[in-house]
Amino acid sequence: MDLQNKEQLEQYLIQQFEWFHRHPELSYEEVETTAKIRELLTEAGIEILPYPLATGLVAVVRGTRTAPDGQERILALRCDIDALPIVEEAEIPYASESRGKMHACGHDLHITAGIGAAILLQAYRERLCGTVKFIFQPGEEDARGAMKILETDVMEDVERIWGFHADPTNAEGVVGIREGYVTAAVDRFLIRVKGVGCHGAHPDDGIDPIPVAAAIIQGLHTIVGRNVNAFHPALLSVTRVQAGTTWNVIPALAELEGTVRTMQREDRVLYERRVRETVEGIAAAYGAKAEIVWIDSAPATYNDGNMAQLCEKVAQSQGMRTVPEEMSLGGDDFSYYMEEETMGRQIPGCYLKIGTGVGHPIHHPAFCVKRSVILPAAELLAKVLEEDLKQ
Ligand code: NI
Repeated sequence: MDLQNKEQLEQYLIQQFEWFHRHPELSYEEVETTAKIRELLTEAGIEILPYPLATGLVAVVRGTRTAPDGQERILALRCDIDALPIVEEAEIPYASESRGKMHACGHDLHITAGIGAAILLQAYRERLCGTVKFIFQPGEEDARGAMKILETDVMEDVERIWGFHADPTNAEGVVGIREGYVTAAVDRFLIRVKGVGCHGAHPDDGIDPIPVAAAIIQGLHTIVGRNVNAFHPALLSVTRVQAGTTWNVIPALAELEGTVRTMQREDRVLYERRVRETVEGIAAAYGAKAEIVWIDSAPATYNDGNMAQLCEKVAQSQGMRTVPEEMSLGGDDFSYYMEEETMGRQIPGCYLKIGTGVGHPIHHPAFCVKRSVILPAAELLAKVLEEDLKQ
């Protein structure tokens, strides 16, 4: 492929994007996707590293120039590759061929832009002083895929990591960048309120868990307004309430399930403590018992200031418009790559949002990426990585 011929590269990337879009695979089932990525990278002469997991892969581009200070830098770019269990409704000629599965989060763009960036850097490797690892990560939608990668030694020598996401709230040519928190820490809770079942006409014979559950829901919703600093983004959602089997029996059990989203670490700790206190206190006041299962998932993503500034400069030099990245109380397991607890050391990272044309939100059955954003995204990532190797 003649890389000087932009049109040729663009056509090639669009063709691959359409293939990935037609062949979506769910978390940890990305077998064909992985084989295709491997095939395309191998064709482009890009080295694939040994990798123990069943899906996903890690490729590497090694620059041939020596850094002015003699220090060889190693950076990583994370591209997630899995799709969602959604029946596609987008009316496009390259719609999903697996009914019930769809690239509704734009990970097909992530794969293709990652491949494009790798191809470009491989071609320009005599200009690069350092190494870039391309992590094609499985299972992001499951929120644990990054942890699987961290079980391998892939990240051991990486100094900084880049990540990105398709953003249908922005037009093409627009990149969202922000220093600081951009995605939330994701926690999940399950509460079991245990009362004493009895006849619906004789509640005095038992302990009805339903009013206890109702009081708990009210109590939980006051945490954000009464305990959390009003300038800190945070929320709690109770998303499942379940109790009872019929109209004339008071059940013995009520279950509540939900999620807590926070940006600051202190709020994450505060929330867990306040949820426990609220649930146990209210249950005790009603004479019931409560059990709380707390499941913590990805931490918040914090964008490094120097990396965000570098990206902003590069995006503008590529003729793109930069806007403040929308903060989201959604999560991304990208944050695991930067955390001391999961990485063994803290490393800087930056997660940007690439405008894919304003349209349906991600995870919507008609979500659609404008194909004209693919090449500019690949070029932006390649340039950002090239420049960051000089830092
Ligand atoms: Ni996604």
